[in-house]
Amino acid sequence: MKGIILAGGSGSRLYPLTAATSKQLLPVYDKPMVYYPLSVLMLADIRDVLIISTPASVPAMQVLLGDGAHLGMNISYAVQPEPNGIAEAFLLGADHIGGEDSALILGDNIFHGTGFPGLLRDTRKNLDGCTLFGYPVSDPERYGIGELDERGNLVSIEEKPKQPRSDNAITGLYFYDPDVVEIAKGLKPSDRGELEITDVNRVYLEAGRARLVRLGRGFTWLDAGTHQSLLEASQYVHVLENRQGVRVACLEEIALRMGFIDADECYSLGDKMKNSLYGQYVMTVARSVA
Ligand code: G1P
Repeated sequence: MKGIILAGGSGSRLYPLTAATSKQLLPVYDKPMVYYPLSVLMLADIRDVLIISTPASVPAMQVLLGDGAHLGMNISYAVQPEPNGIAEAFLLGADHIGGEDSALILGDNIFHGTGFPGLLRDTRKNLDGCTLFGYPVSDPERYGIGELDERGNLVSIEEKPKQPRSDNAITGLYFYDPDVVEIAKGLKPSDRGELEITDVNRVYLEAGRARLVRLGRGFTWLDAGTHQSLLEASQYVHVLENRQGVRVACLEEIALRMGFIDADECYSLGDKMKNSLYGQYVMTVARSVA
């Protein structure tokens, strides 16, 4: 299975924070935002990841993550010249996908919850068509919304409906079979001129091949696309890390625990950042596993 992180867009809702840098490189407490979606793909045991970003931001992403070899990953990059919509990721990423299943995650989505790695593994194993994740929100008009019948089957999907039929937001994490590339090729731009991921999902729904997994209330899903949600995401991560003494989305730790790198490799990654508490944490984790 191949992974794609879509980290494009102008970030205009975060201006002036994003005037000189990309949204997905802004800090969410102690690490750049893009670490969070990358950690999700790693937990799904996906090692081959394409990061799609703007022409201005790809070089900075490359400085940050390189080719991923230090994490036991293979990370490549593609440019999305204009913000033409989420589904364009499958046109830009067609060669990367190479006829395999794929997982797409948006670069500003943060997921955290007990049992998430197991859920990701099960999703991969049972994938048939497309799998979406639903999360209850208080402002459903801001999101793609999925409506379920009483047996939990997905019956409708709407993008940012004025009168939402449910509060079940469709999160920015999507699993697809290889058909997604052809489906994306057949899309027409929406009224706002974008290739909508919701239109891709509707094609699967109409074929009876879309499933929605509900993330329960004990789970946390945040997007960090506004000043307030960016601050809230930082506060969430800070509270959790400070209270528990563990770090969320620490890529070096995940690479170690997933068996992508060994303890010595992990330790030396921490050692390069030993002046920061983050680096010291990586060294401590490496020692505890060695
Ligand atoms: C996009 C999708 C929407 C989804 C959301 C999740 O919206 O179009 O369906 O619910 O991401 O973050 P955007 O954030 O681009 O407005």
